[in-house]
Amino acid sequence: MSPQHSPAGPPRAAPLADLARAADAFLPTGNIVYLNCAAQAPRLKAVHAAGAAALAEGASPWQLATSSPAESTEQLRAQVARLFDGDTDALACIPSASYGLATAARNLPLGAGDGVLVLEGQFPSNLLPWQQRCEETGARLIGVQRAPGVDWTQAVLNALQQEDRVRIVALPQVRWDDGALLDLDRIAASVHDAGAALVLDLSQSLGVLATDMARWQPAFAVSVGYKWLLGPLGLGWLWAAPEWRERGQPIEAHWSARDAGDDWRFPLAPAPPWRRGARRFDAGGLDDPVRLAMAGAGLDQVLAWGTAGIADALGSRTRALDQALDEAGLGAWKTQGHAPHITALRPPADRVDGVHAALRLAGIVCTNRYGMLRVSPHLQVDEAAMRRVAVVAAGTMG
Ligand SMILES: Cc1ncc(COP(=O)(O)O)c(C=O)c1O
Repeated sequence: MSPQHSPAGPPRAAPLADLARAADAFLPTGNIVYLNCAAQAPRLKAVHAAGAAALAEGASPWQLATSSPAESTEQLRAQVARLFDGDTDALACIPSASYGLATAARNLPLGAGDGVLVLEGQFPSNLLPWQQRCEETGARLIGVQRAPGVDWTQAVLNALQQEDRVRIVALPQVRWDDGALLDLDRIAASVHDAGAALVLDLSQSLGVLATDMARWQPAFAVSVGYKWLLGPLGLGWLWAAPEWRERGQPIEAHWSARDAGDDWRFPLAPAPPWRRGARRFDAGGLDDPVRLAMAGAGLDQVLAWGTAGIADALGSRTRALDQALDEAGLGAWKTQGHAPHITALRPPADRVDGVHAALRLAGIVCTNRYGMLRVSPHLQVDEAAMRRVAVVAAGTMG
């Protein structure tokens, strides 16, 4: 990796563009096969180095830093915009998915008897704000369940047909527990036909799957940065539709969301105008140069590989696992309709702990979610390692 001077922040290593050598971009993991990117990304060398450089720079705060946090944030906004629709004004920088979803819940109109549709078992950050809002307003929370043989897309479409007065549909693109994929093209059309607002949690897909904001027209969409964007904890993104960039109310009153011009003395009244676009939702406390630098390096790499290339390469890894399960006579353990980057082994309930323990013993790190062993590689893992998962699992069958 040759050093380059990034437009903002300390110098960062140039990302590796060659997908065939992608594993070289990550810190080595020794004998461990880390299959838990859905919890936290494996660490890129460039992310680690960028964080260390920013940490070192921060040791002498009396010296002029190579960039201001505001400049770094704008640079990140432009990078993340390339994963959406290219519009930097659509994005706010937030600490967590739940912060962005609480912002959505605060703004979208909801009244007594209205319905909010979610999936049963979806991640709590995209459940708790809606529970709270329903309690406050007397609205109904509707949990979509999936009947055997019906996929989540069809289950959502059926629920939209059956339920009256659905005002908000809050969904993921990919389920966090087993990687099941939802077809947002079809779902978004039905949501809009029903006159409801769509809210998306893309934490388990942004950085791998393409977005189509023009087609989906969500009111809000969020993603954390520490999974498939390969960045640090505590720095994520909120995309807001044009309407909400104009009239949305943030959940806090941080000065960084206001445009005070050159005069730092905020008047008693009125408050300075909001900054442009979704910047009004920018959260306070995110001006940590270490996190900003790490996030930038992660995005450099995601953008250099490109989401189509990443999805393709991760798809061949999860396909290798599925094939190896078939070959081992464990085809029934596969997850049907999973995304390219996340899947789960579904052993019989009395075997889950034994299979998980055997995998752990073999240095294979995955995670038990509701009795499903979630497998979520990034490109530090090759197809041979994925096949080993099936071999170790088969070894527990005696
Ligand atoms: C789908 C999904 N959304 C959000 C999060 C994290 O949310 P938060 O940033 O609110 O902790 C996770 C973490 O696993 C997740 O899987």
